[in-house]
Amino acid sequence: MPLLERLRAAARDGMLVAGHRGASADHPENTATALRVAAAAGAQFVEFDVHQTKDGAWVVLHDAALDRTTDAVARHGREKVQVTELTLAEIQSLDAGSWFGPAFAGARVPTLAEALAAATPAVPMVERKGGDAESLAAELRGLGMLERVVVQSFDWPWLQQFHRAAPQVVVGALGSGELDAERLAALPSTGAGFLHWDHRTLTVAAAAAVQRGGYLLGVYTVDAELGMVGAARLGCDFVTTNRPAAALALRMQGWLSRPVSAEATARPLGSSGR
Ligand code: G3P
Ligand code: CA
Repeated sequence: MPLLERLRAAARDGMLVAGHRGASADHPENTATALRVAAAAGAQFVEFDVHQTKDGAWVVLHDAALDRTTDAVARHGREKVQVTELTLAEIQSLDAGSWFGPAFAGARVPTLAEALAAATPAVPMVERKGGDAESLAAELRGLGMLERVVVQSFDWPWLQQFHRAAPQVVVGALGSGELDAERLAALPSTGAGFLHWDHRTLTVAAAAAVQRGGYLLGVYTVDAELGMVGAARLGCDFVTTNRPAAALALRMQGWLSRPVSAEATARPLGSSGR
């Protein structure tokens, strides 16, 4: 069964859980340890962010600058050190754990390949923050991961390029603010199989429209239990959280069951009604 349909089927047993930047409430975000802990907890997705280095390698980091989550400022003697200014070797010599706590000193910025391995057996949810569409498609193809990951971005024209380069990859459109008719109408051009929206601005009506369109729906970033239960009540297929273990515990207890109406409304992409 294709990945998108496997995810749709799994969500029938309860809203799925994505570890945001790994288990980032308790571990330095986007490090191999954070990703591994989220996967080991049983998260169905492990989310992380990717950029391309000066020499074209793919690395896992949220910000375009290395300042916040590594010791780049001390090591380079200046601020705003960009990922695109350094080589892979230079980036991997940085400490990506000490900023979070001394127990994590020595953690490295993972490569995409290292992050994919750390996220196993969860489905890696790769968020492109920077870098070229064709290059990411080629990297995932080389790693044999095209049909085992989902790739998402806030940059919808970039998604369109990526979808053209690798149509077999499940793609997700990220967004925030009002999810209006215009944005819903733009979705098919991205090739998206799912929509991933800021939970603070998703309305009941917009969630229903997404479900009627046959897309999977997720919300980010929800750390409060009340928010997780609310997302499930809206029929969300997944929730992205810095606290995957807490969300998974709720799921086990049945709190993340989705309403029957959401399951009945959602249709696989390509079926009648779209
Ligand atoms: O996965 C969605 C979420 O990660 C988007 O926001 O800024 O945390 O990458 P951000
Ligand atoms: Ca992200």
